Amino acid sequence: MAENSPLSPASRWTPESWRARPIWQAPIYPDATRLTAVEQRLTRYPPLVFAGEARRLRAALGEAAGGRAFVLQGGDCAESFADFTANVIRDTFRILLQMAVVLTFGARVPVVKLGRMAGQYAKPRSSDTETQDGVTLPSYRGDNINGAEFTQEARIPDPARMEAGYFQSAGTLNLLRAFASGGYADLHQVHRWNLDFVERSPLAARYRDLAARIDETLGFMAACGMTSATTPQIRETDFYTSHEALLLPYEQALTRVDSTTGDWYACSAHFLWIGDRTRQPDGAHVEFLRGVKNPIGLKVGPSMAPDELVRLIEILNPEASPGRLTLITRMGAEKIAAKLPPLVRAVKSAGVPVLWVCDPMHGNTITTASRVKTRSFDAILTEVRGFFDVHQAEGTHPGGVHVEMTGQNVTECVGGAHQLTEADLGVRYETFCDPRLNAGQSLELAFLLAAELQARRAGLDPAPAVAAQ
Ligand code: PEP
Ligand code: CO
Repeated sequence: MAENSPLSPASRWTPESWRARPIWQAPIYPDATRLTAVEQRLTRYPPLVFAGEARRLRAALGEAAGGRAFVLQGGDCAESFADFTANVIRDTFRILLQMAVVLTFGARVPVVKLGRMAGQYAKPRSSDTETQDGVTLPSYRGDNINGAEFTQEARIPDPARMEAGYFQSAGTLNLLRAFASGGYADLHQVHRWNLDFVERSPLAARYRDLAARIDETLGFMAACGMTSATTPQIRETDFYTSHEALLLPYEQALTRVDSTTGDWYACSAHFLWIGDRTRQPDGAHVEFLRGVKNPIGLKVGPSMAPDELVRLIEILNPEASPGRLTLITRMGAEKIAAKLPPLVRAVKSAGVPVLWVCDPMHGNTITTASRVKTRSFDAILTEVRGFFDVHQAEGTHPGGVHVEMTGQNVTECVGGAHQLTEADLGVRYETFCDPRLNAGQSLELAFLLAAELQARRAGLDPAPAVAAQ
């Protein structure tokens, strides 16, 4: 390809250069004039995040890439306009914080908290249409695009939904910021975060035991003069937002020049990722994300070839900067041992630093005999363990996990301490897209991850007792 061809990665980037590229998974809006009007309004609205925050996250992810921090990224598969309530936001935030506390205490490294929240409204679909009882309609593509109801009217892409998505993202982000810095996330609150759903399981006792140990530690620190009043790290936490950068007209409209550096930032969230279905090296989504300075992610599924991955990381992280690019692998429990090592080796020899994160959800979706989409907790754990094993063997860092979860007591994934079975799936199956871990299953995953990280630490540190002096 010629250097100055419009399809060359080296060609000039602008917030709209993606429009000259082939695009996958894009909705077709019937009314182009209304679409342009919404885009123009969004272009004038305030950004949702500030570039300085994205830079802070990029630095924190760089620490994780070097093995000095661990990333916890989680939230709904698809947020919905209907679930836009304080309780739903609080419950997901709280369970992510509880998981982070378990991981921090167990693994003794900072945990970078990244919600699939405040903007996760656009979904790639395996089919453009859906047929029910002989009627075929366009597929549901997420609340930012069309409605989930199976009617012609709801399924027509409506640009006004982008504006609704912007305001709901702003409202969600506002509450998340208030929780993170307003006292709700104070480590002294750990006891008070209720555990109603896990109450009857052994996890509740384990969590209470951990909370008591944290309390003891905080008491000691207070005696040394470190309290909520004197130490912001006890009182506040950093919480970042992320979503799949699928709906490019929306993302372009929220892309701004940072006045302090002159660089372009996507200001719809701190971190954006490219999905496994829209990662074509010459495609529109790769083109858009290569030009913004945010930390970005790339989903890596089992069909990714090592040379294609190397090409992508060279396009997306040409400066080889740690923290810029997160590779979110989603292979499936049965494939990870064979598929991941060649990719890790190819990336290592390319010499571009990346952060490796495990998404143990999207390669493990199954459909039951009664045609319900679910995931087994065992398969999820098997993929996470496989991820740790591969990185251990290759000498690279397992930098984090990416999960679809909710703070609600849903019954969407089978297994876990409550032993949910296929028969339980009908009780509270509420997802708008993929099945999520419920609060108990999420906390259980965090305990198991903490144990893996602890074991790894013990294996890496030849003399921990002496080193701690
Ligand atoms: C997702 O994260 O919801 C998703 C669609 O993932 P993937 O692109 O990995 O299939
Ligand atoms: Co999903």
